[in-house]
Amino acid sequence: MSSIEALKKSIEELKNELSVTIVAHYYQKDEVYEIADITGDSLELAKRAKESDSEWVLFCGVGFMGQSVKILAPQKRVAMPKIACCAMARMIDSTYFDESVAAMVEAGIPKEDILPITYINSGAEVKAKVGQMGGAVCTSSSAVSIIQKAMESKKKILFVPDRCLGQNVARKMGLKSAVIGIDKPQEIAQADIICYNGFCSVHQLFTLKDVEFFRKKYPGIKIAVHPECDPSVCEVADFVGSTSQIIKYVQSLPLEQKVAVGTEYNLVHRLRSKNTYVLSSTKPECPTMNETTLEDVYNTLLEIQKGNPINEIHVDEETIHWAKVALERMFAYLE
Ligand code: 13P
Ligand code: SF4
Repeated sequence: MSSIEALKKSIEELKNELSVTIVAHYYQKDEVYEIADITGDSLELAKRAKESDSEWVLFCGVGFMGQSVKILAPQKRVAMPKIACCAMARMIDSTYFDESVAAMVEAGIPKEDILPITYINSGAEVKAKVGQMGGAVCTSSSAVSIIQKAMESKKKILFVPDRCLGQNVARKMGLKSAVIGIDKPQEIAQADIICYNGFCSVHQLFTLKDVEFFRKKYPGIKIAVHPECDPSVCEVADFVGSTSQIIKYVQSLPLEQKVAVGTEYNLVHRLRSKNTYVLSSTKPECPTMNETTLEDVYNTLLEIQKGNPINEIHVDEETIHWAKVALERMFAYLE
């Protein structure tokens, strides 16, 4: 038995003995992904992890994902084998959030006319600020529905932290967008969706040049990308969707149909062995998602067994309250 298989077996034994649900995002390393009880995109993981009936959730992903489970189900104990923080989520905190609101007010938009929406890739304090201002969380798969619902308020949307997702949703819905710190105050005043200037460095690797390269090399190839990619790429792609939606799209294609995929490497290389390409000449690896190893999972379970848990997620009550309001609003908007 290889050391990986031996470790997997020990994890399975420990998991059966303890009340633990192992959750993993698609971007996790193969061996970690394979031992998970629940896998999915951010929306599915948040929903299913809060509904699991175990005392513990062991979340293999990035910080905001484990934190979202704790916020949605505070009675649960949540631990992460590695508390690795999504680089995009780190681009905003509550001070930068307040400054964004102030920039909109300076551009002539009264504060009461601002409705904030935060991508789930953000910290609990930012979600709490959004909840307090009457706003909601969205994920890559729910962003269009959430913005549609938010637009009914006739308010201006402050979208944080992913500029690309905000711009891509605006384009899809035929709305005007502007970016704080890039566009002039009058452009901000005229826009429907005002985006914070955050981004995912992994998804920035996919460029229009890559799309042109693959289309020239393999005429007829399909291009499927995540909405965190630049709008110039999403605009020309055949399919834009969340990680789960990309998987379903590629699975729906005939095997002989070539497809180039613009999202994290671990997901793409697991898709199918033939006729699937990574839409970049640089390996698009998310450094933080790749921090979690099988050894980390094993050690975290071992510490839970000893009654000495490590890397447990804690969020203060006040933050949980308001962040939960923003997350629950997303689920209510989707009903
Ligand atoms: P999904 O919700 O599509 O899984 O996206 C999460 C993410 O971090 C993509 O970079
Ligand atoms: Fe964050 Fe980008 Fe990694 Fe997704 S791929 S977790 S957005 S850094």
